[in-house]
Amino acid sequence: MPVETRIENGIGVIVFSNPPLNPISATAGIPQALREAVIALDAHPDVTALVLASDGRMFSAGADIAEFNGDAATIAGPIRGLCATLDGLAKPVVTAIQGGALGGGLELALSTDYRLATPDARLGLPEVTLGLIPGAGGTQRLPCRIGIAQAVKLITTGTTVSATAAQAMGLVDDVVTGDVRAAAITFARTLSGRRRSRDTAPATDGAAEALATARAQAAQGAPGDAARAAVEAIETGMRDGFDAGLAAEYRLFDQLLVSEPARGLRHQFLAERAVARVPGLEALEKPQPVRAVALIGSGTMGTGIALAVAQAGLPVTVIDSTEAALARSRATVASTIARAVERGRLSLEAGAAQEGRIRFSSDMADVRGADLVIEAVFEDMGVKKTVFEALDRLADPGTILASNTSTLDVDQIAAFTSRPQDVIGTHFFSPANIMRLLEVVRGARTAPATLARAMGFAKQIRKVGVVSGVCDGFIGNRMFEEYLRQAYFLLEEGALPQQVDAAMEAFGMAMGPLRTMDLAGQDIGWSIRKRRAVEQPDRPYSRIPDLICEMGRFGQKTGAGYYLYGKGGKGEVDPAIDALVVEESKRLGLTRRAISDDEIVERCVFALVNEGARILDDKIAYRPLDIDTVWVCGYGFPRFRGGPMFYADRVGLPRVLERIAAFASGYQGWAWETAPLLRRVASTGLSSLNGDAA
Ligand code: NAI
Repeated sequence: MPVETRIENGIGVIVFSNPPLNPISATAGIPQALREAVIALDAHPDVTALVLASDGRMFSAGADIAEFNGDAATIAGPIRGLCATLDGLAKPVVTAIQGGALGGGLELALSTDYRLATPDARLGLPEVTLGLIPGAGGTQRLPCRIGIAQAVKLITTGTTVSATAAQAMGLVDDVVTGDVRAAAITFARTLSGRRRSRDTAPATDGAAEALATARAQAAQGAPGDAARAAVEAIETGMRDGFDAGLAAEYRLFDQLLVSEPARGLRHQFLAERAVARVPGLEALEKPQPVRAVALIGSGTMGTGIALAVAQAGLPVTVIDSTEAALARSRATVASTIARAVERGRLSLEAGAAQEGRIRFSSDMADVRGADLVIEAVFEDMGVKKTVFEALDRLADPGTILASNTSTLDVDQIAAFTSRPQDVIGTHFFSPANIMRLLEVVRGARTAPATLARAMGFAKQIRKVGVVSGVCDGFIGNRMFEEYLRQAYFLLEEGALPQQVDAAMEAFGMAMGPLRTMDLAGQDIGWSIRKRRAVEQPDRPYSRIPDLICEMGRFGQKTGAGYYLYGKGGKGEVDPAIDALVVEESKRLGLTRRAISDDEIVERCVFALVNEGARILDDKIAYRPLDIDTVWVCGYGFPRFRGGPMFYADRVGLPRVLERIAAFASGYQGWAWETAPLLRRVASTGLSSLNGDAA
């Protein structure tokens, strides 16, 4: 039974259960059953007070996000009804919070008289991170408990707080070590049946200032809709009273629920969880966690990965063939950790422990004892061959042998060993201790158990692992190439770098494509283009990035690329680059034209969509949501747009195809050969690639 009640020493105890996180799911009937239970116990003559509790590691994570694509009345109605019922009870209610109460879970607890929590509990209303506001009274009841100023901050940022912090602000009445439910029952017995006098008007000290700050800090445009709506709901309650505030909250929640940013954020929230469910691995036993890691190559990536592994609490041995590289790596590790301690992001002890988990060695035999070895040596097949032959000889049987290669064939690397079933790609993104994405590359002969364990490792080190098949560039960089191709062609046709970047940043990209290249280093792209010129002579690039490289302008690291980088500068527009771009158009015999920001966005984003569809056709990615997650977590694609494939669904495939057809007849139209999948889906009359698009 999802909701059970009993009477214990005069206390009506209600326990609900909806494993694993106890969402108050309306379709599972939880709020409806809870409402019936509280009404019955409130009316029971033997009961003086009620205790509300749940089974499992967390009181409740809130409403069920998977249900949010339904209509507001169905989703929010029952929880609202339950909270209103709790408001009107004759007897007091105590909530026992173990582990945490988030979103609707906290709104439920806020509707009761008292809250006790375990020391590890986290409490908060994170709805804005999903493009929403609390929709069951949270914007009104939280201010009543902790005052407007603090409530505004929590609600508009979606921050969660610890039990102790919650107690300090009056959100929790007591922090209880041990059995919080038993403590709640004991506490309820002291209440002699009296309800707590309820404040329906919140404390308003510092309210005006907090509201103004929140309004100013809300992101510009659509991404800030939810934060602004939260301010409006709170302000309405403050000005016109609780009921008016509640009505405003309900109305705003219902509007936001169907808004584009909320749909995109919801899609990405669910996608980030769905990527871990790898098709074909469902029947496998849960893999053993990785206990010790070895890294071969202590360069940029090796050092970053070692930090990520140590941060997650695992021991790691970093092996390099040169002492100088090891010394540099050791120094980078030390300075990175010292900086984190200095900035208060890490305690001195935690920093020392992290550093202590990283060992350095120049002896390949030190891979023994590791159950995962990650190779991050030079991007050269000859060097990889030497390393993998050595690993085959030296690593313990059953050890996963992973390569961090960004462009080389993982199957060819696997063939250097006698154990290709244990070989896999783990493609980290730089800086590897910060970027959340990890592309896990399954080779043709990678064993399912190896893949499952590598995906488990991604989770262990708090990365989002996405499975990719073997192809040049895997999911992310293969798409990035087409995106950049369009950015460069736009320059030839009439746009300037700063216009392309500004248009993409206004769309929501963390950074425009040309600024990204300046950050990553133009030389990497240059060497890839040289290789492409030989491999794919029929798919030429614009010459513009090569011309810039020939000037020695490799981006930020050389002080100049598309932009000029003074000391600590963000990158200034350089008239010399504008002139170079204009000159190149002239050389090509092109009359430069005014290009709209809309065209820039469509050209760059639909190039992603088209290549993404090809990646699905080639079975490199399992699902559109895998591609979306790669782009949101690894390439700064705006989370509120859900990812490129979800965005294409929202625009509508017929429209995407119509634009692609128009581009195909325009400048460098050869680059727009439509992916068969797009044509197939559109011809069936569907407009959606994602089964879950709403
Ligand atoms: P790097 O040049 O900074 O470091 C390579 C390290 O490998 C050097 O310290 C070198 O001494 C060491 N090394 C070379 N041969 C060795 C051997 N036989 N045994 C032991 N150590 C050896 O290179 P980086 O940038 O860290 O790249 C490493 C790998 O990661 C490459 O495959 C690269 O394609 C890939 N990658 C790089 C990314 C980046 O942004 N730099 C991103 C994703 C992947």
